[in-house]
Amino acid sequence: MSKRYTITAALPYTNGPIHIGHLAGVYVPADIYSRYLRLTGNDVAFICGSDEHGVPITIKAKKEGVTPQDIVDKYHAIIKQSFIDFGITFDNYSRTTAKIHHDTAQEFFKTLYDKNEFVEEVTEQLYDAEANQFLADRFVTGTCPKCGNEEAYGDQCESCGSSLNATDLINPKSAITGNVPSLKETKHWFLPLNKHEDFLREWILKGHKKDWKPNVYGQVKSWIDDGLRPRAVTRDLDWGIPVPVEGGEGKVLYVWFDAPIGYISATKEWAAREGKNWEDYWKDEDTKLVHFIGKDNIVFHCIIFPAMLKAEGSYILPDNVPANEFLNLEGQKLSTSKNWAVWLPDYLIDFPNQQDVLRYALTANAPESKDNDFTWKDFQARNNNELVAIFGNFINRVVVLTNKYYDGIIPAPSDYSTIDEETLAAVKAYPAVISSSIERYRFREASQELMNLARLGNKYLADEEPWKTFKTDEARTETVMFVALQIASALAVLSEPFLPFTSTKLKGILNSNGNGWKDVSTKDILIPAAHQIGKGELLFSKIEDSEIQIQLDKLEASKKANEAEKKVVEPQKEEITFDDFTKLDLRVGTIIEAEKMPKTKKLLVLKVDTGIDTRTIVSGIAESFSPEDVIGKRVTVLVNLAPRALRGVESQGMILMTEDETGKLVFVNPDTSTALSTSDGVKNGLQIS
Ligand code: MF3
Ligand code: ZN
Repeated sequence: MSKRYTITAALPYTNGPIHIGHLAGVYVPADIYSRYLRLTGNDVAFICGSDEHGVPITIKAKKEGVTPQDIVDKYHAIIKQSFIDFGITFDNYSRTTAKIHHDTAQEFFKTLYDKNEFVEEVTEQLYDAEANQFLADRFVTGTCPKCGNEEAYGDQCESCGSSLNATDLINPKSAITGNVPSLKETKHWFLPLNKHEDFLREWILKGHKKDWKPNVYGQVKSWIDDGLRPRAVTRDLDWGIPVPVEGGEGKVLYVWFDAPIGYISATKEWAAREGKNWEDYWKDEDTKLVHFIGKDNIVFHCIIFPAMLKAEGSYILPDNVPANEFLNLEGQKLSTSKNWAVWLPDYLIDFPNQQDVLRYALTANAPESKDNDFTWKDFQARNNNELVAIFGNFINRVVVLTNKYYDGIIPAPSDYSTIDEETLAAVKAYPAVISSSIERYRFREASQELMNLARLGNKYLADEEPWKTFKTDEARTETVMFVALQIASALAVLSEPFLPFTSTKLKGILNSNGNGWKDVSTKDILIPAAHQIGKGELLFSKIEDSEIQIQLDKLEASKKANEAEKKVVEPQKEEITFDDFTKLDLRVGTIIEAEKMPKTKKLLVLKVDTGIDTRTIVSGIAESFSPEDVIGKRVTVLVNLAPRALRGVESQGMILMTEDETGKLVFVNPDTSTALSTSDGVKNGLQIS
């Protein structure tokens, strides 16, 4: 039955090009899904666009001495073109600086405002007096109160995925000046997520029954169970969409408030262009809304955006949010700043006309249920051992033999053998098998089923050996070639969502364009006798070691550049007075107990005998030391530091640590001559303890 679908792919931030992590996590699966739905006769709006507001863009603009608009204009053009060249078939790729989006987002805000869906509140927010600016989101970093990650942002911790308010951060630091922020009062509008808790809980449970991915369901459930709090949806910034209500002067909408509304504005823009009604795609209960995202976006798409849509009242809610995990590259986390990535524009230059190879490698190894690793060796193997050796080889044999034996004119079959009948029946079963995987968002499984169809073709040829029967049995050879051509035709159709360029090429070679997805399972003949096919053309070519080496060398160069950067010694901090120093009450203590803080990577909970008392100190050293390493150790303790709760455990002091010349964390150890006042110094300030 034909259905209406609104498929969204996370709007990429417009501060850099697209890399393989984005492709594997979001754009390739979303494109496979959309192509598949169109191919099976559904009405699809596949929507995306550039996410052009938000702090990272202003930070980048500042760094480069240009305006934020310059930055987004540059990357919007690069991103949009690379998606086109890569074959991602968005029905509309819009941008959030477009007028239609500003209007739509402001109207959405006003509707909620008029319905009293916001709480308006003056609160103290972090402020950088030197930069004369409030600090939110990526303008501020600090320690995550949930997991102890020292590089959490003001809106989110990327280490544990928690969504945060800037004032939750421990030891906040301005990303603009590095200063410790002060607090200053300001008015903002908050979306009271707590008010939507019951609705969200019920909706998520319902979603669970619809087979939401366990990673998505689990994350969302644990946030709801933790209790939801009001969340500010406005900011004191000058880059963004102006807050359209009284008292909103000088303030803008929070980027995560405006960006998902971008899906709606992009749909409006498309509908106006195509003469459609956008509301069919957002307000009709029969429309299925599906969000493709990476796991760091789950809270926004499964809690905040649905709460916004529900509060507005006239929208449908997502039917599914098939979020993927992360893709690593050669064993390391992808990183834009460390240039540890494979950039799409670079790939398109280095591997011209080989879009399908990357699509296939990323799909066959997609991070669907756990983080996965992309390696250039695997990429090469997927191409050489699967695309070339299985798919390409089968097609090549069929096309070459048909041309050689019959001048490219498809021969008529005579009686089918049992093997022929079984083979043709097996082909007919593939659309349902692949559909079932795709409809359950299992794209890697689906891609492997497609490859199995090519395997079936190869096995059929190998078993029936038309090159042998050609000399002895003309009728048999004609039948075998006819059957093999049916398999080739099925591959031309069923490969379209996964290998669209290959599918088009193959349809050209077979001179056959008329079959749809369902025809493969219903028609007895996909390509008829007497039909003339074209000349052969290789679908895939072998990727040589030398080509892979070039890519590995590029990564090696990034690594070297990063190491060179790391070696830069951090400059000495601002001078302090002797009086400042004497305020520190330092004692020699002994660690008498140590255990890991549950569910954290970095934190150890220590019991320390300070000579005054025995107290608890939470220390962020678990990645460098195990509990056994430190029990019994004599350490230098700052005892008069104000107590502070970390993950609900009160930490009553700080163990002094520093880094040695290799960057390794070491104790400022009272047993050796190392002391705070020696030249050893404390490089990164006093480590969190
Ligand atoms: N720009 C965000 C990111 O890259 C995703 C925005 S998705 C949207 O993480 F829903 F807000 F559009
Ligand atoms: Zn965290």
